[in-house]
Order: sequence, then C-alpha cells, then structure tokens
Amino acid sequence: MFAKSKPKNVVGLDIGSHTVKVVEIKESPEGKELAGFALTEIAPGSSGGEDAGTEAIKRVMGESKIETDRVVTAVSGQSVIVRHIELPKMSREEAENAIKYEAEQHIPFDIKEVTLDFQILEHASDSKKMNVLLVAARNDLIDNHLKLIQSAGLKPAIIDVDSFALVNTLEAIKGERNKEETIALVNMGAKLTNINIVREGVSCFTRDISLAGNNLTEAIQNSLNLDPSQAEKLKKEEGEAGGDNEVSQALNPVLKDLVSELRLSFDYYENQALERTTNRILFSGGSARLKNLDKFLTQALGIPTEIWNFLDGLGINSDIDKETLTDAVPLLAVGIGLALRRVS
Ligand SMILES: Nc1ncnc2c1ncn2[C@@H]1O[C@H](COP(=O)(O)OP(=O)(O)OP(=O)(O)O)[C@@H](O)[C@H]1O
Ligand SMILES: [Mg+2]
Repeated sequence: MFAKSKPKNVVGLDIGSHTVKVVEIKESPEGKELAGFALTEIAPGSSGGEDAGTEAIKRVMGESKIETDRVVTAVSGQSVIVRHIELPKMSREEAENAIKYEAEQHIPFDIKEVTLDFQILEHASDSKKMNVLLVAARNDLIDNHLKLIQSAGLKPAIIDVDSFALVNTLEAIKGERNKEETIALVNMGAKLTNINIVREGVSCFTRDISLAGNNLTEAIQNSLNLDPSQAEKLKKEEGEAGGDNEVSQALNPVLKDLVSELRLSFDYYENQALERTTNRILFSGGSARLKNLDKFLTQALGIPTEIWNFLDGLGINSDIDKETLTDAVPLLAVGIGLALRRVS
C-alpha cells in the first residue's frame, strides 16, 4: 500500500556519441521536478580495458547518485527510419496487421532485420484516412544498444527515439507557448542533428542529418592543421558563428551546409503543410553552445532561433547547483524527454 503511493522517479539516459547524460524526474503531487542530472564526455580512448561507452555510463550514473537501475534510453541516426504515412481508417488491431506490409514499401531495409512500431496520429487530411507515424529501427542497432546498457549494469525500461524524446520534452512540460505555432526543434549534437517540426503537439516532420559538432571540429582541424583534441578545444574557446578569427572562419563552410539542410527541411514541411511556415526554432544539443550560432541561424534562415529553455514549468530540486544546470541545459533536451516518459 505504502509503496504504491510513493512518488515514482524515472531516469532518462541519453547515450550520445560524444556525451552521456542522465536525468531524473520526480513526479509528485506538486508537479514534475528535476531531481538530479549528470553528464560526462566519452573518453576517445577507453580506459582499463573497459569499453569507453560502458565506462562513461557507469561514471555518469555514479556522479548523479541516482539509485534506480531501470532507465529509459533512445536510439537515433541512419538505422532508425521515421515516416509519416496515410492509411485507411482502421482500429489499432487492424493497423498492427497492416503495418508490416506498409513498412515494406517505406523502409529501405529488409523488414526481417528491423523492429517496427507505430503511432496513430490525430490529424488526418480526409475523414476516411488516418495519419500514422511509422518507426523502424534496425535490430543490430537495438541489440548493440541493449548490450551497452546491460554492460553498465542497467535495465532498459523503454527504448525510444531521440527526436521523439524532444517532442516529449516540448509536450510534457507546460511552458508558455502558442498552440497555433509551428515549432522546429533542432538538436545539434556531435554526429547528428535531429530536426523535428511540431504543430499542435504533433510531429509533422522528422529527420536526422549527419552534420553536427564533429564536422565543425574537423573543419578547424583541417584548416589549421591540428589534432582532433586541439581543434575541439579551440572550437569551444574561440569558435563563433559568423566570427572573424581564424577558427571561426574555418567553420563557415559547415555552417553554410547546416543552413541549407535546415532550409530544405523547412521548405519540405511548408510545401506539405499548405504554405504554413515555421514560426520559430528551439535550438538544443551541445553544439547549440557554439557562440552566436542561435543569432547566426536567426539571420541566415529568417526564423527566430533561441536556445531552448525547457526548464520553465519544471520544478528544480534545491540540491541542484543552478549555474551548473544552466550550462548543461542545451545538452539535456533529449534526456529530459526520456525521463518524462511514464514507466509502468
Ligand atoms: N561550448 C561549445 N561550443 C561548441 N560546441 C560545443 C560546446 N560544448 C559542446 N559542444 C559540442 O557539442 C557536441 C556534444 O553535444 P551532445 O552531447 O548534444 O552530442 P551527443 O548527444 O553526444 O552526440 P550525437 O547525439 O550526435 O551522437 C560535441 O560536438 C561538442 O564539441
Ligand atoms: Mg545526442
């Protein structure tokens, strides 16, 4: 009896290619509260013979002092395919049978090698049809992901998709927001940039592009003839989008590509959505910390771009150091969305 009424904590574990983040949310009668978090970079070379990823997960769990071993995690990238498809209106049970045949037409992998899931969305263009969000993840990706979590002594409760976690962050925390708006969530990490266009709480467009922080680092590395760790350090210390110094100049070609990729996605959405435009960009991921990148995108795309502060509407445990949290915020967007999943 007592155990049942105890508020439940859920832990989101975002295993990126560069940084591992863990977030704990407490659901209490007063609302949702950020109970704890930690992040750690994955060492380029593994230490003590243990895989660098496993070691980083153990380290981040230790630092966060989170006690539960059940975690909500996510996969992303080219082995995860997300498609919006239209089906004739049918029940969830009927859709479960139909989805495999539909998937064969939309998924570029052998259907036997993927795990499928789907969600029936509310919005449909005509009343005889329904919009369905189809997800397929390659089994080898999921297997490796499971092995990694288990090797760190943890138990996977849910495996989600990075970009869905971002939508969950947007939806689960009731911040101030105009419901009519079309919002683009852009999460720029190290290997990938997740792009998600959301209208009325529903994701209308999802794409992961392979252009992110590593490309910025490589550009500095090649242009100034440095090793990767020197280039990475200089990027953080001297890099500025649209800046004049040598380091910043080296970033220009990558930023130009980023702008084109984003514009392509927005144009695609706008054509599909009958000329509706993207009203603003909520920008997250470690690379959103590149100096002035938000202002640069605002100017280059003509769409207001802000560093996403999703903490509005979320309680913060008094033990958490505010300055450390503010610095970490852009990196926590996926982890927060994972931790906000309900686990039964
Ligand atoms: N101050 C900064 N300026 C520029 N880039 C930064 C800064 N801080 C972190 N980064 C970059 O952010 C990236 C890490 O961000 P993040 O943790 O979101 O990525 P990830 O989730 O590990 O990667 P992915 O999801 O792409 O596999 C790295 O490329 C890092 O260089
Ligand atoms: Mg990431």
